[in-house]
Amino acid sequence: MSSLSGRRILLVIGGGIAAYKVLELIRRLRDRGAMVRPVMTAAAQQFVTPLAVAALAGGKAHAELFSLTDEAEMGHIELSRAADLVVVAPATADLLAKMAAGLADDLASTLLLATDKRVLVAPAMNVRMWLHAATQRNVAQLRADGIAFAGPDEGAMACNEYGPGRMAEPPAILAAIEALFAGGETVGRPLAGRHVLVTSGPTVEPIDPVRVIANRSSGRQGHAIAHAAAAAGARVTLVSGPVALPDPVGVATVHVETAAEMLAAVEGALPADAAIFAAAVADWRVADAQMRKLKKDGGKPPALRLVENADILATIAGRSGDRPRLVVGFAAETEDLVKNAIEKRRRKGCDWIVANDVSPATGILGGTDNAVHLVTADGVEDWPALPKEEVARRLVQRVAAALALAPA
Ligand code: CTP
Repeated sequence: MSSLSGRRILLVIGGGIAAYKVLELIRRLRDRGAMVRPVMTAAAQQFVTPLAVAALAGGKAHAELFSLTDEAEMGHIELSRAADLVVVAPATADLLAKMAAGLADDLASTLLLATDKRVLVAPAMNVRMWLHAATQRNVAQLRADGIAFAGPDEGAMACNEYGPGRMAEPPAILAAIEALFAGGETVGRPLAGRHVLVTSGPTVEPIDPVRVIANRSSGRQGHAIAHAAAAAGARVTLVSGPVALPDPVGVATVHVETAAEMLAAVEGALPADAAIFAAAVADWRVADAQMRKLKKDGGKPPALRLVENADILATIAGRSGDRPRLVVGFAAETEDLVKNAIEKRRRKGCDWIVANDVSPATGILGGTDNAVHLVTADGVEDWPALPKEEVARRLVQRVAAALALAPA
């Protein structure tokens, strides 16, 4: 029996010159026993004809979102579900952007939004378009969403430029498809069956009913980690302080305000396989927070007495019995970053520290990118500056690998 015997592949063909190579991909897929149902964007039909695609696929090339005949035979939602794998080739910059943003304004993008199946994309575009910050942002988002990538390759392009952006060759796309099927259900979902606990955002500590002590954490990095862990198949509990971000889809989010509430919510969410403490927890709270609003008192400002909050990371790392197998802390520093992080790992008793420089000049606090150092028992890894979503995805991959190695 061939490797792809009986596999149903929904093939979304985007509008790029590389569309001609997809004809060969269809032939190779069918040679291996796969059933290919093609869908073409309007632009794709400028490069290859629906007739050629249908002839090779052995069935209609779907193109219309509002086609009465098609909807009567098989609705577009059904079309997206009645497949084992969705392949997008060539995946143009426009299609990737639509997927990353969740847009659905034609049959191809609607299917991609409606599907509950794994999606493999084979990007193809001009080198400048591939390297553009917008495309790279979309690619990072799609990877975090669990989308698999084949290519792009580097080389001479139809537009006479040279660089990354050329669509992977059909045999390489075929190999990527076979690898996805060979890996079974857990491919791209290496945290399936695991519970991951994440803290995110700031905590705010009341001074009186209207005033608080807060900090500048946006919650972006912690929320991105929760999202990436869910995309990797984990059951995720996110304990978050007040942030301006929506709750990540598919993540059980517990909203808290103070450090004490965060600790209680974290303890309530145990047991967990891994716990990642990305929250910027207030180190201090006001000892005697007032029940009534403080009034100005003849020009004499009130003196606030602060007491230290419990350290959530150290508390959980020090638990016996239900300590998560992997406890990861963050270290936000403005000087002696790595030295302090190494010391913090030891002092707090956690397994890893993700250290980042939060000096105002870096723009990291509240920004979209992050440059981190991963401090483990084995040493220090310097990661390049990456979008926070990509930092999250890489960290989650590392967590999955560590859990796979460590005994349950
Ligand atoms: N953390 C925590 N509970 C606290 C304080 C911090 O869980 N009460 C966690 C953070 O979520 C982060 C790590 O501890 O993962 C490091 O926080 P940081 O504020 O950088 O460290 P501190 O312990 O406050 O050390 P210092 O103030 O000396 O930098």
